[in-house]
Amino acid sequence: MTNALELIRVELGESQVEVRLLDLAGLGEVESLAAGYLTSAEAVEYAELRHPLRRREWLGARVCLKLMALQQGRIGDPRQCAVVKDPRGRPRLVFAAESAAAVVPDCSLSHKSRFVCAATSSAVGSRVGVDIEEVSPRLRRLADQFAHDRDTLLGSRPAEERLAILWALKEACSKVVGRGLAMALRAVTCQEIAPGRHRVVTGGLELSGRHTVHGGYAIALCVGTDLPVES
Ligand SMILES: CC(C)(COP(=O)(O)OP(=O)(O)OC[C@H]1O[C@@H](n2cnc3c(N)ncnc32)[C@H](O)[C@@H]1OP(=O)(O)O)[C@@H](O)C(=O)NCCC(=O)NCCS
Repeated sequence: MTNALELIRVELGESQVEVRLLDLAGLGEVESLAAGYLTSAEAVEYAELRHPLRRREWLGARVCLKLMALQQGRIGDPRQCAVVKDPRGRPRLVFAAESAAAVVPDCSLSHKSRFVCAATSSAVGSRVGVDIEEVSPRLRRLADQFAHDRDTLLGSRPAEERLAILWALKEACSKVVGRGLAMALRAVTCQEIAPGRHRVVTGGLELSGRHTVHGGYAIALCVGTDLPVES
């Protein structure tokens, strides 16, 4: 079961952080997949989801993250760990007692159309945020709500790609901070300091940002260390 699904490695150059994509088209029959991958607590959460696309992306994100934990040798079975969320929705990976030695210091999830994306960090004290966004005209309408003149990207690229990169970086930043919908994306500034590498600043906080473009999707990662604990 676990061998049939292939994760796509996303090289972003951030040490101790792994990012993988899973193409939902390859998921196959989801109900038996759910039975093989979800703990009983996760199965209860899954049963509460009604919309077929939401069910698929929610399941796909957990399959992606658990496959990463399997490949990293942290678990022998996907049901030995579970995704648990804090009150604002920020996920973490919790391991069952029989794999007590396994720890993923931080993780992040994202989904967009046919892809789900997961990031894990093995650096203690670091926080990661990952986001995937399709390069599409949709973001032009929203541009004023999240982009501004202080955002800088190197070189020239189509406006829609530029917007998708900025959107993904800022959403990834909001996932590091973990405040969810309370965070204004316009309050985040992105400066590309080397190709694919960004300084991402919000308030007094500076994060390391990375991006790549894969098959018409922008994928961004933000990493912060020793961040103040959010109340
Ligand atoms: C919470 C938020 C970051 C989720 O992003 P999204 O683009 O809607 O959806 P994505 O697929 O990329 O990410 C969803 C995943 O983010 C994670 N997530 C949810 N809340 C989170 C939080 N507070 N912190 C970190 N991660 C969070 C979850 O794991 C979720 O996946 P799941 O539901 O399968 O568990 C986003 O909705 C948000 O609130 N952004 C704030 C900025 C804003 O105001 N944007 C809109 C106006 S321009």
